[in-house]
Order: sequence, then structure tokens, then C-alpha cells
Amino acid sequence: MVGKELVGRTALVTGASRGIGAAVARRLATAGARLVLVARTEQALRTLAAELGGDAIVVTCDMREPDSATLVRRRLDAAGVACPDILVNNAGAFVLAPAHETSVELFRETLEVNLTAPFGLVHAFLPAMRARRTGHVVTIGSIADRAAFPGNAAYAASKYGLRALHEVVRGETRGTGIRATLVSPGPVDTELWDPIDPDSRDGFTPRAQMLEPAAVADAVHFAVTVSVEINVDELRLSRR
Ligand SMILES: NC(=O)c1ccc[n+]([C@@H]2O[C@H](COP(=O)([O-])OP(=O)(O)OC[C@H]3O[C@@H](n4cnc5c(N)ncnc54)[C@H](OP(=O)(O)O)[C@@H]3O)[C@@H](O)[C@H]2O)c1
Repeated sequence: MVGKELVGRTALVTGASRGIGAAVARRLATAGARLVLVARTEQALRTLAAELGGDAIVVTCDMREPDSATLVRRRLDAAGVACPDILVNNAGAFVLAPAHETSVELFRETLEVNLTAPFGLVHAFLPAMRARRTGHVVTIGSIADRAAFPGNAAYAASKYGLRALHEVVRGETRGTGIRATLVSPGPVDTELWDPIDPDSRDGFTPRAQMLEPAAVADAVHFAVTVSVEINVDELRLSRR
């Protein structure tokens, strides 16, 4: 049962145009938060914003661009939002290729969206969170932030790095009033898997046995609504 614990709070969710990010945005909006929806696909963001009921802010942005965090911050400033209360770094790209077939360009692009962009938003908003002595940085990691699977050179490198970033932020904000949570799911049935078609490949979790995006949304909702005295450092999700 979702209450209205987040009324008066603003939650920024990257990668909100579909999949896990859209599910997280819906859940936090149901709990009363005002949403800032970030991704490249403007129409999907506008459709979701309309569904959420009016005051959601849409920021169309390619998070691989070096100035993406600045653009997001300017859009929030223009909307009268100095800093989100909750930052959910969710946008991500998944590539499956052995190291010797991963181009340097693909490796770089994966790190840009999965690691550099989340850092950019942390860098943009942590000072205001520190000044206010409140805020919550939620990072969507992966089973691949601790387990190195073949074919995951770029993805695992980005997600291991992202977990390290979370742990550093957690260490640096401990006792400041700011919370930091890493949510690391196993396979989740989203469009991310469409190009891979796991049902037809050995060694992959069939889609019917994957987590639903709503499970990740539940975890994020739990972390951001638990008693303020508690920091949920890390949640690792798998199917029972
Ligand atoms: N699905 C899984 O099995 C699984 C498991 C563990 C962790 N995760 C993680 O969960 C997160 C969400 O994954 P998902 O399964 O929901 O994937 P998805 O359905 O492919 O959605 C990815 C989201 O990220 C956005 N995005 C991708 N590249 C972007 C860019 N350059 N700039 C801005 N936004 C960008 C996409 O929006 P646009 O295309 O509109 O830009 C989309 O909203 C990722 O970090 C992923 O690594 C997924």
C-alpha cells in the first residue's frame, strides 16, 4: 500500500521514458512526489507527465552530452526548483559483446551514460543538498555491479564504477542528513532485452522469470520513505 509520504518533495528520475525509470516515476508520483522526468524521447516523457497529472517537469536530454547535468539544472531553475529532494540515477545502456568485439567508442559511450552522467547529476545537486542538509541520491546499479559476466566488458565496468561512486557518496554524506541508496536488480523484463532476445539464447534468464519493473519501484519507494533516521545503503533484488 502506497501512502502519500512524498507530498511536497520533488523526485528527479533519469531514464523515465520507459522500463524501470517509468515504473519508479509512477510509484513516487503515487506517493505524492512531484516528478522531473529525464530522457531523450520527448513524446514518451510528455505522455507519462500527462498520466501523472500535471505538474511533472519534462527534461528532454541526451545524458551522454558533457553539459547534460547543466541543462537539467537550468531547466529546474527555470521551473523554480533549486534542487530535487530525491535524485534517481536510473538511465542506462546495456550492451552485450565480448571485450575484443567492443569498440573503444561503444565502451566510452556506455560509461558516459551509465557512469559519467550519474556523476554529473550528483556533482550538480550535492552542494545544494549539503547546504539544506537533506536529500536522497538513489542509484540503480545491477547484479553486474558485483558479478562480472562474459559479454559485459563495458556494462560491468560502468556498473562496478557506479557502485563505487555510490559507496563514496554514501561515505562522504554520512551524518550530513543526505541519504544514499544503491538498488541492484537482477534481470528485469524491460525493452532493454529486446535486441538480445534472452528467451532464444542459452544461459540467459527467460523473460517470464525476470523481475518486473514494479519490483524495482517498490525497492526505491521503500528506501526513500523509510524512517529518516535510517539509510538503506544497498538493496539487491532477485526472483525468489
Ligand atoms: N532490465 C534489466 O534487466 C536491468 C537489470 C539491472 C539493472 N538495470 C538498470 O536499470 C536501468 C534502467 O534499465 P531498463 O531496463 O529500464 O532499460 P530500458 O527499458 O532500455 O530504459 C532505459 C532508459 O534509459 C534512458 N536512456 C538511455 N540512454 C540515454 C541517454 N543517452 N540519455 C538519456 N536517457 C537515456 C532511456 O530513455 P531514452 O531512450 O528515451 O533516452 C530509457 O528511459 C539501467 O541503468 C539498467 O542498467 C536493468
